[in-house]
Amino acid sequence: MTQTYKRVLLKLSGEAFKGDRDYGIDPQFLIYIANEIKKAVEVNTQMAIVIGGGNIFRGLSASVNGMDRVSADYSGMLATIMNALSLQDALKKVEIPSRIQSALHVNEVCEPYIQQKANRHLDKGRIVIFAGGTGNPFFTTDTTASLRAAEINADVIFKATQVDGVYNDDPRKNSNAQKHDKLTYMDILQDKLKVMDSTALSLSMDNNIPMIVFNISTPNNIKNAVMGKPTGTLIN
Ligand code: GTP
Repeated sequence: MTQTYKRVLLKLSGEAFKGDRDYGIDPQFLIYIANEIKKAVEVNTQMAIVIGGGNIFRGLSASVNGMDRVSADYSGMLATIMNALSLQDALKKVEIPSRIQSALHVNEVCEPYIQQKANRHLDKGRIVIFAGGTGNPFFTTDTTASLRAAEINADVIFKATQVDGVYNDDPRKNSNAQKHDKLTYMDILQDKLKVMDSTALSLSMDNNIPMIVFNISTPNNIKNAVMGKPTGTLIN
């Protein structure tokens, strides 16, 4: 059985890196994520990853609490580089080759983002971890995911979260909330569903890149989504 999606952009929230902790990185959970990624890579899926930084620093909340928004956003971008290094370490432990490319230049730490080079790494079967957000304040890592997915011509964006998909209400607050199996980007706009910010949404919609939202904590979800099995919520 061949996979449905050959080239995938996986968006991992920083929150996912916390595991059961309140803050920071849970190395055990990172190994779990690395093994989940490995299952998809073993069927020859090309995978690029965009990481958030919210487990270490939340730019928006810091600016709400009085920090200058630009400084807060740059701090968040730096946090994504720390997460990228941790993920690369976990991938190395499960024998998956990867390269980190950052939109912010920290050349001693990782490569700069170069689209052609990212494509070459992907063609060679390496995972490319995109760190540093878009390199600009006022953009989220969801927007980074949409932008990089368009740049590398990804077939799909996987938004791996802590919930099973997109619901009509917050399932953590409302036990009667219903999960959607399929939605269009227009549904999300019209129903004001909080899946991603409007910049990320319009970039993905305008470039016709489908998105699958699923729970990273459910084993085999990444592999199942790659194989085209119904997983989480499909948005197109
Ligand atoms: P190809 O040989 O082109 O297939 O790719 P490669 O990534 O194996 O070769 P390259 O010589 O580009 O990189 C060798 C190693 O150096 C890899 O681990 C890269 O991630 C790393 N590297 C490349 N450029 C930079 C950089 O600007 N900064 C840092 N810190 N590492 C880099």
